[in-house]
Amino acid sequence: MNKIVVIGSMSIDLVVSAAKRPGKGETILGETFFTTPGGKGANQAVAAARLGDQVHMIGRIGNDDFGKEIHENLKSNNVIVDSVEPVTHLPSGTAHITLAEEDNSIIVVPSANNEVNVSYVDKYLSTLNKGDIVLLQQEIPGETVTHVVDYCAAHDVISILNPAPYREVDQTVIEKVSYLTPNETESAEMFNGNVEQALIQYPNKLIVTLGSKGAVYYNGKEKVEVPGYKREVKDTTGAGDTFNGAFAVGLQKSYSLEKALAFANLAASYSVMGMGAQGGMPNLTDIEGEWHV
Ligand code: RIB
Repeated sequence: MNKIVVIGSMSIDLVVSAAKRPGKGETILGETFFTTPGGKGANQAVAAARLGDQVHMIGRIGNDDFGKEIHENLKSNNVIVDSVEPVTHLPSGTAHITLAEEDNSIIVVPSANNEVNVSYVDKYLSTLNKGDIVLLQQEIPGETVTHVVDYCAAHDVISILNPAPYREVDQTVIEKVSYLTPNETESAEMFNGNVEQALIQYPNKLIVTLGSKGAVYYNGKEKVEVPGYKREVKDTTGAGDTFNGAFAVGLQKSYSLEKALAFANLAASYSVMGMGAQGGMPNLTDIEGEWHV
């Protein structure tokens, strides 16, 4: 079986819920507070490991309590952590999340995640084999993303870039990556509002996620809309990560693109029903009643 390798960020999420967001210069009272493992890379790895097999994480943590918690959490979710190394000069990454008015706002402080640099990933890229699946996001340096996508294209490794949080993506990355999975806002930024045209320009590669409405792509002949699921929402944090992790698992299972996206939509719909980025991420047994292979 081909392995899934997530190259990306790991963080501890510090989550506050409140009736509203504070305005500039304003102090308000919150309702609840909790800390929980997060970071888009770690979330995608956990989502993939709950549904698939042989999931590796390449990333960096601080030599601190948060780092230990991140490491333990990955291990207890069966993510292989041989390529997760601590840095001594920076703390672990953190994400500061406000839940209010049925949505989240997030400030990410990458810290140790900024050390997922080209020389660090170079130590591990030779472990990738033809057909393996690499998942990338944008809470690590941009040069690393470009370098990994280049390497994957040259070695027949499948690459998925989830361009979140949004920052400009090199045109060479767009050309060389196997799959791009922006949401509606990110795709509008990436293609200057010309998303319909971009879907046609990048068939079977550009997949625009639409939350509970599912996902769309162009198959070379027509636009394909893969429907999502309406659920009772507790917390949308990590839904996109669940989608990406599950999509990688769909490819690992050799599903067609459309079927892999249907699988990803189903898994993402479960994730919004639990609190915290990883709280609602399903196992295969959770979704089997609704998934008919
Ligand atoms: O995608 C959700 C994640 O974004 C959170 O877990 C938080 O860590 C931020 O990076």
